[in-house]
Amino acid sequence: MTSTEYKDLSVREFTKAAEIYESDNAGVYNMCRKDYPEVLAELEKEPFNDLLDCGCGTGSMLTLLHEKYPEKHYTGIDLTPKMIEVAKRKNMKGVELVVGDCEKLPFEENSFDVVICCESFHHYPDPQEFFNSVYRVLRPDGRLILRDMTMSSSAVRWFCNHIEMPLAHLAGKGDVRIYGRDDIKELCDNAGLYMESFEKRDFCRLHCVARKRKNAVKRYNNIERSYKRSRNIYDDVLTQNKWWSKLYIRLFWSGADDNMIAERLLSHIPDDFSGKLLDVPVGTAVFTHKKYDVLKNADITCLDYSEDMLEQACERLKAQKNITLVQGDVGKLPYEKGTFDVVLSMNGFHAFPDKKAAFCETFRVLKKGGKFIACFYVKGRSRVTDCLVRNLLVKKGWFTPPFDTVQTLKKRLEKVYDLEEFKAEGSIVYFCAVKK
Ligand SMILES: C[S@@+](CC[C@H](N)C(=O)[O-])C[C@H]1O[C@@H](n2cnc3c(N)ncnc32)[C@H](O)[C@@H]1O
Repeated sequence: MTSTEYKDLSVREFTKAAEIYESDNAGVYNMCRKDYPEVLAELEKEPFNDLLDCGCGTGSMLTLLHEKYPEKHYTGIDLTPKMIEVAKRKNMKGVELVVGDCEKLPFEENSFDVVICCESFHHYPDPQEFFNSVYRVLRPDGRLILRDMTMSSSAVRWFCNHIEMPLAHLAGKGDVRIYGRDDIKELCDNAGLYMESFEKRDFCRLHCVARKRKNAVKRYNNIERSYKRSRNIYDDVLTQNKWWSKLYIRLFWSGADDNMIAERLLSHIPDDFSGKLLDVPVGTAVFTHKKYDVLKNADITCLDYSEDMLEQACERLKAQKNITLVQGDVGKLPYEKGTFDVVLSMNGFHAFPDKKAAFCETFRVLKKGGKFIACFYVKGRSRVTDCLVRNLLVKKGWFTPPFDTVQTLKKRLEKVYDLEEFKAEGSIVYFCAVKK
């Protein structure tokens, strides 16, 4: 069935149901009422002013909210004109009701503190469009509260989606699909929303809260790319896999072997590591992707400022469900204090423009006893390298001064970290430091 056919079916279903929807003869739709107290409890955890109800139907949830908090501003949207017509008859003051499609929300960017969606989502043929649209209309820090049907077992979900739903279509129902945790996580990640919680409640209810976090971060998990980008010279230089890159490293970087450094650094993370790891900047994940293949139990966040780098990292890491790719600034990390067990930073600090902020932020988001594992350029070890950095790499914008020397860096680190390993290879320092 096409997207339009699904939507037509939903409109037909709810045009018939509109008049009886809130009556005692509502049949299967009675089930929706069980969601309202739970959505209300979730809503009341945080203050809000502007709320959007997606697939609001006859406005049952809005009625409840409007009675309890009449001073707030409510908007309801639904695809079925008849459902909106019934909702409008209630004459709720301060409640705007709109006929429209939740996959293309017709509202300004950053308009709502909270978006709720009860028992409507399984009617959407393109769920990603809905999530993207919600991301757009939510204000930074705003939440999506999603309630829908689900089944824990993927086999049962498969049965519902492939056997039960086609039969339901014959009976005139516009249901499209039900989802599990991984599906919703992927939709959130792709849209840039952070899935804060996902629970299966009661017999078959999905209760999910997703947030548009401040500092507008965009995730690149599983973005499908229709074309393959040619690897840029970045990887060739770092991995020395071309004759000219080998020569370049030998002549200008005293032969410092980045492959060996990466191996040493990554050996500080055990293969059975099951904590939270932040990799900043992830770059193209050229050294790390193989290690991440092994870290099946870790919760890995890879952050980079550059969209181009993220796109290439995405190609390498997209198969891994435990990795989230984030576009962001190391100087303003969008994470709580003490979030990570490991912060990994390979070849980043010589590029970061605000090094003080980068040191402070990586320290802040690391747990006490957590490991800061990093490597980067330091000045004062080789005249040739320093000359190259000053006259070419800084001018190109690849490196940004000021740079530490081995001594100033060691002193800086020792103030707040215990150094488990601290070594220099040519003009590159690599270390594993434990937060005091
Ligand atoms: C089961 S009712 C739920 C109504 C209400 N949220 C409640 O809890 O009572 C599902 C609603 O989703 C609406 N709907 C289906 N697809 C939609 C879409 N693409 N955009 C907006 N609303 C849609 C239907 O018209 C219907 O009113």
